[in-house]
Amino acid sequence: MARKPVIAGNWKMFKTVEETVRFFDEFKPLVAGADHCEVLLCTPFPVLTAAVETVRGTGIAIGAQNLYWEKQGAFTGEVSAPMIKAAGCSHVLVGHSERRQYFGETDATVLKRTLAALEEGLTPVVCIGETLDERESGATEAVLATQFTDGVGSLTPDQFSRIIIAYEPVWAIGTGRTATPEIAEEAHRFIRQKVAEKFGAGLAGGMRILYGGSVKPDNVNSLMSCENIDGGLVGGASLKPEDFAKIVHFADQPA
Ligand code: 13P
Repeated sequence: MARKPVIAGNWKMFKTVEETVRFFDEFKPLVAGADHCEVLLCTPFPVLTAAVETVRGTGIAIGAQNLYWEKQGAFTGEVSAPMIKAAGCSHVLVGHSERRQYFGETDATVLKRTLAALEEGLTPVVCIGETLDERESGATEAVLATQFTDGVGSLTPDQFSRIIIAYEPVWAIGTGRTATPEIAEEAHRFIRQKVAEKFGAGLAGGMRILYGGSVKPDNVNSLMSCENIDGGLVGGASLKPEDFAKIVHFADQPA
């Protein structure tokens, strides 16, 4: 089954409103007419509205980087799915490894946030991935299987068909140490196999699985050439309009 690639940026805790507007002024012409893939930018909460305004009329989608699972209430500092939806977003990152590492995110809370996003019609981009210790001790597949089973594995098939998975090996994030296409493809194949075991070959064949971890213009083409890699979740290189536009045009980059 043909899967439309998704090239997503995760700005993490970077960019003010002014910097956001400047980014899109440069970025939009560079990707005008690029309909071979979906283009998504996940920005900090305070710039979501400015980002949504500036991409209006282009095909570029805007997402948040986290959400809380309650719709509203006395939860100081939190942001809900209806708020993100009302800001004009279509997507939201869930369970990024930095949220797991620094903010106590677990597979159980990943599931709650995923359900809250789906209920609002947002597309959750659910992140999984092993740490360096886990990889070096040979636990990669066990870790991925647990993150899958205890997290999104308990969605209904209909819910599951509306999510995107991002495989982000923690040791490759922000380190410049990209997983080789072979290592990434092996993990993606394993994840798709887990999806097939749980939800069947049809859903597994349609599921987009993005790779994240030091994706750059000079490695994106070889990653995107892998059968089971359906896109990228890009941190550092999504902050620069030219670099991120090159990643969007992945097929034109050196293989
Ligand atoms: P880098 O591309 O900076 O390694 O970040 C990857 C990431 O965490 C995207 O969510």
